[in-house]
This record gives sequence, C-alpha cells and structure tokens, in this order.
Amino acid sequence: GKYRVVSTKAMPGTRWINLLIEQDCRVEICTQKKTILSVEDIIALMGDKCDGVIGQLTEDWGETLFSALSRAGGKAFSNMAVGYNNVDVNAATKYGVAVGNTPGVLTETTAELAASLSLAAARRIVEADEFMRAGLYDGWLPHLFVGNLLKGQTVGVIGAGRIGSAYARMMVEGFKMNLIYYDLYQSTRLEKFITAYGQFLKANGEQPVTWKRASSMNEVLQEADVISLHPILDKTTYHLVNKESLSMMKKEAILINCSRGPVVDEVALVEHLKANPMFRVGLDVFEDEPYMKPGLADMKNAIVVPHIASASKWTREGMATLAALNVLGKIKGYPIWSDPNRVAPFLDENSPPPA
Ligand code: GLV
Ligand code: GLV
Repeated sequence: GKYRVVSTKAMPGTRWINLLIEQDCRVEICTQKKTILSVEDIIALMGDKCDGVIGQLTEDWGETLFSALSRAGGKAFSNMAVGYNNVDVNAATKYGVAVGNTPGVLTETTAELAASLSLAAARRIVEADEFMRAGLYDGWLPHLFVGNLLKGQTVGVIGAGRIGSAYARMMVEGFKMNLIYYDLYQSTRLEKFITAYGQFLKANGEQPVTWKRASSMNEVLQEADVISLHPILDKTTYHLVNKESLSMMKKEAILINCSRGPVVDEVALVEHLKANPMFRVGLDVFEDEPYMKPGLADMKNAIVVPHIASASKWTREGMATLAALNVLGKIKGYPIWSDPNRVAPFLDENSPPPA
C-alpha cells in the first residue's frame, strides 16, 4: 500500500480493513497486550511514516500526539467513538490533522443500554438476581423486591441530541412515560412524535402521554422520576450533576448515565446513594475509568456496567467502518466523513445551532 494507516486497537469485523486495503492503504494494528496505550506507545506505533490513525476514547489525543502524527506525514485521525472529549481538536487543527468521530451507528444501541439500565434500576433486577443466586429466595412475598412502575411516570432527558432523543422515544412509546427534556435546542421531531402518540392513545381511550421542554436543567431534576444524561462532556457539562443537583431530585428518582463519567460528581453521588436508599442509579461510565470512587461498588442501589453502551456487534463493526472511512476520505483528499465540529454543542449559547 501507498499509505500507512495505524489502528491503536484491533476492531470488530473485517470490512474496515478491506475498505482501507482496497484503496491502497497498508493497515497496521497494534498488537500490544495492555488495555490502554500511553502517549509513548502511540508515538512508537506511528513511527516516522503514518498517514492516518484510528484511535480510541481511552487515549489522550493532544498536542504531543498530533505533532508526532504531523511529523510522520499524517493528515487524518478518527476516534472510534462519538464522544471526543479525549481529543484536542484545536491541537489537531494546529498541526493540520483532520478529526473524525463515529456518530449515528451507535445511537440506538446506546439508547437501548440506557433503557436497559432504567428498567433494571426500576425493577431492581441486579439485586434480585444476586438474591436468587445466593439461595435467599424462600418463597413469594407481597413485599419482595418491590420497585417502580414506569408507566405514567415522567422520564427526564438532559441533552436531547441523537442518543437522548432515541432514548426518550423508547421510554415514551415503550412504557408510556411522559417526557420532560432539557437542551439548548428544541427537539421538534421528538415533540411531534410524542404529540402524535399521545393523540393515538387518547383516541384509544388511554391516558395520553405528554412532553415538556424545560427552561432549566433544575426543572428536569425536580420533576422527573427517571433522569438520563446525554450531553457531550466539555467544560460546561463537567459535574453537571453534583451535590446540589442531586438534592433537588425526588428521593425515589432513578439516575442513568451513559454519556461520560465526569458529567456526574461521583463522590457526591456515593454520598447521596448512602443517604437515600430508595434513590437508584445505572452507570455505564465513571469519572476515573476504569476505577470507581470508593464505596460505589458496595451500594445495592447502584447498577454498574463497564462502558458498554455501544457494544453490539452491528454497532461496533459500524463504528470501525466509519472510523476507517473518516481516515480514508481525508487521505484521498475529500473532507473528513464525520467532523465532530458539526456535533451540536449542548450548553454553549454562543455556538451556532447544528445544521
Ligand atoms: C463511547 O463512549 C462513544 O463515545 O462512542
Ligand atoms: C451526541 O453526540 C449524540 O449522538 O446524541
């Protein structure tokens, strides 16, 4: 191959490799056994000729790596993720490297995990499973593992982009929940969908579902029974959920986070879980991955899974393919396929709305 493309990890499927090979690229996949590569590992991997890199969200793509990539003749980098808080896009731009991410293919998969965690928390699935396996079940009882009924309750969505909107639709249509959402931008399609679904229910003699666009995040925290976080992580959303916001939520609320760990102050969350045994959380992401803050693992009212929201075969193969297309496109002289600068900002009023 004329071009050398490096992937810092083996990725699912073969389509992404074939796409690159067919287009004159030699593909090199890192064979190191360690899970998270250091900046030095990646510099060694890129060597002195590297046209493009596919990297992972666990890697720190800043000044050092982009300047090294640029010295190796590289012009393209794609994160194999929709989130790109691990990428300093300004540094990339400074060194003439175009950056891509992988939106779209993981929207439903991620929303489905958020929905799974919502149900698991509402119905105490993990606690009940542990109880069963521990041999503690000695017969049906009226008060055994009583949880929350979602129907007729309010689901709160913070960040109604692609993933937040998909999750909202699932919870409203699947479980007949009412929606309250907070985002800088109006989600017209979501509102229309819920209005139409509400009318359908009403015409069938059922209680209609409703929606409301909140004027502040606090309104969502105060009113919702299940709250799911779907913002991007940047300085405006760091510790968006902290001690104060937790204290505004209902005592029996459920909080779901499938976005990025630092959106939640995890130390404050552990304190809140201790003080409020009826409050429950479902977490896919953590402030300090792969670690959990002290005490979290002991909480019965927390469900924790290891950052698997996009982990379906179809989605992971799609993410790999999209990442390869991003890099390939740029190498071949086209604009990068998916440019994260086009992703909607969440709380920054000074940024233009998404196209
Ligand atoms: C995963 O966390 C992603 O951003 O794709
Ligand atoms: C954010 O990137 C989203 O897909 O909602």
